[in-house]
Amino acid sequence: MLTKRFFNYIYEVFFSFLLVVHWLFKFITSLFYKFFDRIIILSFIVFVCFSSLFSLQVVEKNADPEEVLLSFLRRKVGLTGTKYGCGGGGCGACTVMVSTYDRNQRTVVHYTVIACLQPIVTLHGAAVVTVEGIGSTKTKLHPVQERIAKAHGSQCGFCTPGMVMSMYTLLRNKPQPTMEDIREALGGNLCRCTGYRPIIDGFKTFCESEVGVEQTCYSPDSPLNSYLHTLITELFPMDCFLPLDPSQDLIFPPELMIMEKKVSGDALYFQGERVNLVAPFKLSHLLELKAEHPSAPLIVGNTTIGPKMLLKGVYHPLVIYAGRISELKAVTWGETGLTVGAACSLSTLQKEVEKVVVETEEEKTRGYRALLQTLRCLAGKQIRNMATVGGNILSANPKYDLSSVLAALDCTLHVISKDGMRSIPLDEKLFADFGKTVLRPEEVLLSIDIPYTKPWEFVAAYRQAQRREFAFSFLNAGMKVAIKEGTDVVESLSIYYGGVGPTLVKPKLTCQQLVSRSWGEDLLSEGCRLLKEDVDVSPSIHGGRAEFRKTLAISFFFKFYMQVVLEMRERVGKLRIMSTLWDGVSDADFPLEYLSALKPFKNEVPQGQQSFQLVSEAQPSADLVGRPSMHQSAFQQATGEAKYYDDLPLVQGELFIFMVTSTRAHAKIINIDPSEALKMPGMVTFVSAGDVPGANCRLWFNNPEELFAEEEVVCVGQIIGAVVAESREQARRAAKEVHVTYHDLQPVFFTIEDAIRHESYFEPKRKVERGDVDEALKTIYMGGQEHFYMETQGVIAVPKGEHEEMDLFVATQHAAFTQELVGMALGVDSNKITCHVKRLGGGFGGKVMKIASLSAITAVAAHKTGRAVRCCLERGDDMLITSGRHPFLGKYKVGYNNDGTIVAADITYYSNGGSTLDESAFVTVLHMDNGYKIPNLRGRGVVCKTYLPSYTAFRGFGGPQGLMVMESVLHEVAVRCGLPAEKVRDINMYREEQSYTHHKQPFNPTDMVRCWDECLERANYQDRLRAVQLFNSSNRWKKRGISAVPQKFGVGFSKGFCNQGAALVNIYKDGSVLVTHGGTEMGQGINTKAIQIASRVLKVPVSSIFTKETCTGNVPNAAPSAASFGTDAVGMAVKDACEKLMRRLQPLMEKNPQNTWKGPPTDVDWEKGEGQAYYYFTFGACCSEVEIDCLTGDHKVFFSLFKIPKKHITSKVSECTAVEGGFVQGVGLYTIEELQFSPDGVLMTRGPSQYKVPALCDVPAELNVHLLANAENPHAIYLSKGIGEPPVFFGSTIFFAIKAAIAAARTERGLGDAFPLSSPATAEKIRMACQDEFTKMASPPTDGAMAPWCLDV
Ligand SMILES: Cc1cc2nc3c(=O)[nH]c(=O)nc-3n(C[C@H](O)[C@H](O)[C@H](O)COP(=O)(O)OP(=O)(O)OC[C@H]3O[C@@H](n4cnc5c(N)ncnc54)[C@H](O)[C@@H]3O)c2cc1C
Ligand code: FES
Ligand code: FES
Repeated sequence: MLTKRFFNYIYEVFFSFLLVVHWLFKFITSLFYKFFDRIIILSFIVFVCFSSLFSLQVVEKNADPEEVLLSFLRRKVGLTGTKYGCGGGGCGACTVMVSTYDRNQRTVVHYTVIACLQPIVTLHGAAVVTVEGIGSTKTKLHPVQERIAKAHGSQCGFCTPGMVMSMYTLLRNKPQPTMEDIREALGGNLCRCTGYRPIIDGFKTFCESEVGVEQTCYSPDSPLNSYLHTLITELFPMDCFLPLDPSQDLIFPPELMIMEKKVSGDALYFQGERVNLVAPFKLSHLLELKAEHPSAPLIVGNTTIGPKMLLKGVYHPLVIYAGRISELKAVTWGETGLTVGAACSLSTLQKEVEKVVVETEEEKTRGYRALLQTLRCLAGKQIRNMATVGGNILSANPKYDLSSVLAALDCTLHVISKDGMRSIPLDEKLFADFGKTVLRPEEVLLSIDIPYTKPWEFVAAYRQAQRREFAFSFLNAGMKVAIKEGTDVVESLSIYYGGVGPTLVKPKLTCQQLVSRSWGEDLLSEGCRLLKEDVDVSPSIHGGRAEFRKTLAISFFFKFYMQVVLEMRERVGKLRIMSTLWDGVSDADFPLEYLSALKPFKNEVPQGQQSFQLVSEAQPSADLVGRPSMHQSAFQQATGEAKYYDDLPLVQGELFIFMVTSTRAHAKIINIDPSEALKMPGMVTFVSAGDVPGANCRLWFNNPEELFAEEEVVCVGQIIGAVVAESREQARRAAKEVHVTYHDLQPVFFTIEDAIRHESYFEPKRKVERGDVDEALKTIYMGGQEHFYMETQGVIAVPKGEHEEMDLFVATQHAAFTQELVGMALGVDSNKITCHVKRLGGGFGGKVMKIASLSAITAVAAHKTGRAVRCCLERGDDMLITSGRHPFLGKYKVGYNNDGTIVAADITYYSNGGSTLDESAFVTVLHMDNGYKIPNLRGRGVVCKTYLPSYTAFRGFGGPQGLMVMESVLHEVAVRCGLPAEKVRDINMYREEQSYTHHKQPFNPTDMVRCWDECLERANYQDRLRAVQLFNSSNRWKKRGISAVPQKFGVGFSKGFCNQGAALVNIYKDGSVLVTHGGTEMGQGINTKAIQIASRVLKVPVSSIFTKETCTGNVPNAAPSAASFGTDAVGMAVKDACEKLMRRLQPLMEKNPQNTWKGPPTDVDWEKGEGQAYYYFTFGACCSEVEIDCLTGDHKVFFSLFKIPKKHITSKVSECTAVEGGFVQGVGLYTIEELQFSPDGVLMTRGPSQYKVPALCDVPAELNVHLLANAENPHAIYLSKGIGEPPVFFGSTIFFAIKAAIAAARTERGLGDAFPLSSPATAEKIRMACQDEFTKMASPPTDGAMAPWCLDV
């Protein structure tokens, strides 16, 4: 006793000493750095944020239970490095590291969390490290920050802080991680720009055994097509990296450690404006609270309750936090297995189970292996760190994965209340309805027993989701069979499905009737037959896909059957060696080619190779044009110092605006009543059409679109008005209280097919024709796409107080248009309106048009109130209001010869334009010929007018859709002629040096042909094709496909005046240079390139040149940064400006009067259907190989390779990154990104939980980019080629490879290989196209009158 006290005393003294040292250190360093920690002494909650070098101790007196860490950090603490991307845990942009002292383990634990779901009150006593805390450009970068920047892993930079924090936390826990560790750590972080490969490249330098990606550089003098090159194994110089020194990491604040040790055992109470939270320390107190307040939800991770309260407005006046109760966090291993506390995180469970499967014999841990398979794909790492086992089960959401597998494992729940404890089995009876369990309201789940498996028990878990990882499952299943020892007879069978109804489902009949039967083929067919009857998926099931789900349910059972056969065989085999006793056990069997069905796809860290031509040795070393150089702001982006519009500090008196949108698709507005909203706290005013002092419209090529709907609404999501309040939360709540009365109007339709029926089209209709063609017949449909830029749209409007001047800090790709529109709305001249654009967190075409309307609305509010107003769309509203890429329906007829030569094609492109024209008229038929010379070709482009939010520009601007239709035509001709698709492509390609497009624009296709030939050669296409065929002949349930396409893509705007750049170059007396231009920096590195160009022309080092921001006050009337032409146009303008200055500076230099910069002459005569549509063409070719799982519809991309011409580009490595980023966006477009509209025209996919963009797991395992050597382009800056948009289309190679794989499966089953497949090729479409006995069993919905869950619009 005495010894214990003595040691406790020593322990105390030691930590007090540490505390003194810590404060001393801070005091001394403060003398050097001239500032000392800010200490906000309030009360109650204490946590510490580290701000570079210093800890910032925050004591928040009025901690509001509704406040989450993200808004607290950004708005109260002023740390804006942590970003808002979705607000629901689905993007990882807000990742931070939390460290806590674990009393029981006496150790500090570090883990990532999602700041947008973490209530601050749950962080009492925790240390929070944000991106600012680990390094800065002012002091020292952390190696993680340095490496992501130098490896070109930061483009727009909006995802970068989250990526950095995920990696930093991994290194805190494991300084030498494996590649698998990195893959796992980054699985919950999305990036929309880079394609992930460069991020991985930067981070894998921390692995001991890994090297950088291969970079191949051609010698500049190498002959064409020569692969003689220097092979460099580092993409960037590794020797200049800062070493990782874990001893330099900030220590966990000793004061927090002491605080945690001395914890009193009292409950913590937090009283907010609307919500109170109590956090008991003792279990008995928790039970008392639950008894007193049975309806108060109990939270731990807050990953279910949080999104409901934050995103869906669910209100709970009292919340009980159970994360401090040690009994709920206990993990114990006993004779029968694991008992895990209900409040243990999924990561804790994963770690425990991972340990035991390594240490314990296999047959005991079969169940744990199945559980692990589920846990590893479930959500991202950050969510798994927060989410708890109890929360997952008791949320009673069938999409959640744990219940099905735990039920199959015969787990037991121990629940406790003031009245005592009871144990209940985890099975289907636990769940009463969606979101409801049979637990009494006052009961708390204490722990869960997860037993070992017995020797003759076989277990499996399955799930299929939109994306292999970090996505809710459509269907999850847990299955266990117990076999009577020494036989093959079923003793018991448990099958559980999540996702076939509102609760967990056990197909009882199947489970009962298969007992006592031999595990063999008869059982399999009987099992499938029974499941067909037993699993009833209602056609109206939430989320739709009834047929697919039912097919999956039976297919999973088939997989399970085979897995058990294999495992039984293995076990019997082992036992036979020991004894002859087992000879009586029959060997159930299946053909060898079935085996591949059992191997799940393995997620791998993408590897790749980039090759490009080196600059000439004669080029001066200070001239960076053509050399790999880092993004100008990469370090700032990696440290969180880079400022985006919403990072700007609050302007004095600033208000917040929240849009009120239509809930009807087509209706007359009878009344708008904001009176209830105006009574809400913090509410300042309501603005609508009547408040617009100027014109209530946005004019685009004389097509007006209302800012605020005045009399009639034409889509759900149309802006009717806006509330303006003192804070975001107040504005959000008040917006819900604005009541609009409608009178519904007819007609209402949303799909292209319906628009055709109603002959509802916008003018003008476009037609381009060559030769003589006939009517159209076949169709291909391609769905739309959401931009999903990581930074949502927004603006801050600041009235200047005199002469009606207004400044706007705005995320726009087209500052001049925003300026013009704001002026029009306010009724003032453009010269009074100044738009400032520092940078954008991604744009992809989505920040050209809608942001101008949002800016005008915000400016109207600022004008009305006389105060600054901030608008920052939440992700759901952004997706609803701003819309995205047009869905397309191509109808075609094609004439061809038996050798595959196409003689005529007639294609009509119907695009869904939504309710207004926006830029849709420009999404035309000009790209339709791709690289093919079809002598008789007719293209008609029709924009359908429907009652959906207006579709707008998106990277590729109609190209990815138009090209897709043409490639479908080629694919179909190949199938019908029985020829390889690449042969049909090859024989139809343009070949003559002087070729003409179908709109009579001349071009030289030589580079395209070179790209195509080199792509096939480098990909070893023929060898791969043979390997694919061999694989397909020996595997029934997995099939491979390979596809390659060439590309010709027009760069620039078809309206010549848009192809202009503008720049202002100032040279100061100290020799420094300021370059301002009309383009906007959104990750494409336009500033970096402008600096390199100025450096070359002015002959000054890049370090003396700076670009500040895009400002309409400095560079007026600039064109948008879009159409892959921003850098070309701006680059030319910078070059021109610098040359002018050089001429003035060097009077000896002869003046060159021809060098004036005019818009290149592009335009199309639509009457004649011909003209110079593009400034120039860029070319390329891409090849991809995929494997599909015919039983689940899952697919994996093994390999992709592109060849793109590029010469003397300003920064080759970052161009490779841009190519990969565009390609991965295309992967999303053609395979997983699926927007769902309800039959009422309501967008249902309004966030990353429902709408999946590619994550790390979707990147091809091998991704190679080769820039064509010696490619010429006299039209653009330093012979560059626009590559922003074209790579998106390369994603279609995956679509066609999938189609080829499906065709292989269908051919084997005696079905036709010509079959319809619309884009995106989702798991559902793949599975259902691989028709077999299981798809037949999942009969289609019987009730034909039932409305579909969603529409193909
Ligand atoms: C972006 C994202 C992705 C996700 N992806 C997946 C996925 O792929 N698969 C999947 O399965 N899940 C997924 N989830 C869900 C996640 O696993 C669950 O939200 C989580 O497990 C719930 O735990 P929690 O502690 O956060 O629950 P909380 O939100 O804190 O609480 C949830 C519910 O459980 C009740 N509860 C919790 N603990 C107890 C207890 N001890 N006693 C009584 N009642 C209790 C609460 O009252 C509440 O109703 C995802 C969640 C997010 C946000
Ligand atoms: S903003 Fe938090 S995960 Fe997206
Ligand atoms: S750099 Fe990742 S989202 Fe832009």
